[in-house]
Amino acid sequence: MTDATAPATATAPKTRVAVLFGGRSGEHAISCATAASVLTALDRDRYDVLPIGITPSGQWVRVADDPAPLRLGGDVLPQVSGDGGDVVLPMADDTREVLYTRPGEVPEVLGDIDVVFPLLHGPFGEDGTLQGMLEMAGLPYVGSGVLASAVSMDKHYMKVVLAGHVLPVSPYTVVQPRQWRRDRAAVLDAAAGLGLPVFVKPARGGSSLGITKVSDAADLEAAIEEAQRHDPKVLVEAAMPGREIECAVLGGRGDDAPRTALPGEIKLAEGAFYDFDTKYVDTSGVELICPAELSEATVAQVRSLAARAFDALSCEGLARVDFFVRGEDEVVINEINTMPGFTPYSMYPLMWQRAGMAYGELVDELIALALQRPLGLR
Ligand SMILES: Nc1ncnc2c1ncn2[C@@H]1O[C@H](COP(=O)(O)OP(=O)(O)O)[C@@H](O)[C@H]1O
Ligand SMILES: [Mg+2]
Repeated sequence: MTDATAPATATAPKTRVAVLFGGRSGEHAISCATAASVLTALDRDRYDVLPIGITPSGQWVRVADDPAPLRLGGDVLPQVSGDGGDVVLPMADDTREVLYTRPGEVPEVLGDIDVVFPLLHGPFGEDGTLQGMLEMAGLPYVGSGVLASAVSMDKHYMKVVLAGHVLPVSPYTVVQPRQWRRDRAAVLDAAAGLGLPVFVKPARGGSSLGITKVSDAADLEAAIEEAQRHDPKVLVEAAMPGREIECAVLGGRGDDAPRTALPGEIKLAEGAFYDFDTKYVDTSGVELICPAELSEATVAQVRSLAARAFDALSCEGLARVDFFVRGEDEVVINEINTMPGFTPYSMYPLMWQRAGMAYGELVDELIALALQRPLGLR
């Protein structure tokens, strides 16, 4: 293994990075687009790159080291397709050798991996399941570990942990599937206590999939059922009027505290919310402003809350903490993303770019952080 921070020399062995993307969540295509950016950014003088795609049904396949077919913008969304082969991770702690197997064929050795860069959003990628698998395989990886990933993915437990650390979150009620089946009236009662409008969302969703803004109580049941199509567990949340402010957090080196960038703002048309189409399809109705125009005091408050949320949830590597900000000092944490959007146009890299860290440098830094961190209990 090499030190990813050291300048490469002609003879220095390269760090072998497995770039993992696609996956089983609704954010498959977004993950492919992110992989296109990271594959382009990885400095081939320093890194040997092994791209591994995960199909929507969960098969791990070897894919070409070519960003072109992974980009968004064509007629069809990018997608990883299977070829009958399986990438197999080493499950013994004395090897990091990855194999490619096909039925009836001799397994092909894909070589040792120094670090895995999971570029997966949503369930089976950002939610601790994959992180557990990489821990089992003894492979270092970029980003948060099992617990932080799982808790941050679940908007219910995320709020429980943040509130437990006396960090501000919006009022909400949880709709458990059993409760919905057995006592729908009690659920609707609890939701009515939040007033209107409310936001109804899958507990473990992302990219705004399955989220509805409900302004009329008569639409609540349909909104809960829509969210349940994405996750049996649903949150109903009081609407937080205010600006949408995001803050990028990067883990500290060694024992250093987490670093925060200057916050950015997602500026939407009046009355709109940041839904899937606004995020990815027709982005003309949204403006990413970085740094956000905020008073010095609000900036300090947002950055401090972002770092505290990162630590409260035991995050590692990277996270983007999203806020609603009203007036000068009313700051509420909306959510934390342990694998935030990561194309060069996404807010997370943009915030670091404004702080003087270019996209490629950010990728280097994340790999360096992953390599310095032990696996297992830490
Ligand atoms: N409580 C709320 N008040 C106001 N807007 C909200 C609220 N919850 C969600 N939204 C809007 O919906 C978007 C997506 O919700 P979010 O909870 O961030 O889910 P996701 O994980 O899918 O991004 C937010 O960026 C915001 O525009
Ligand atoms: Mg969000």
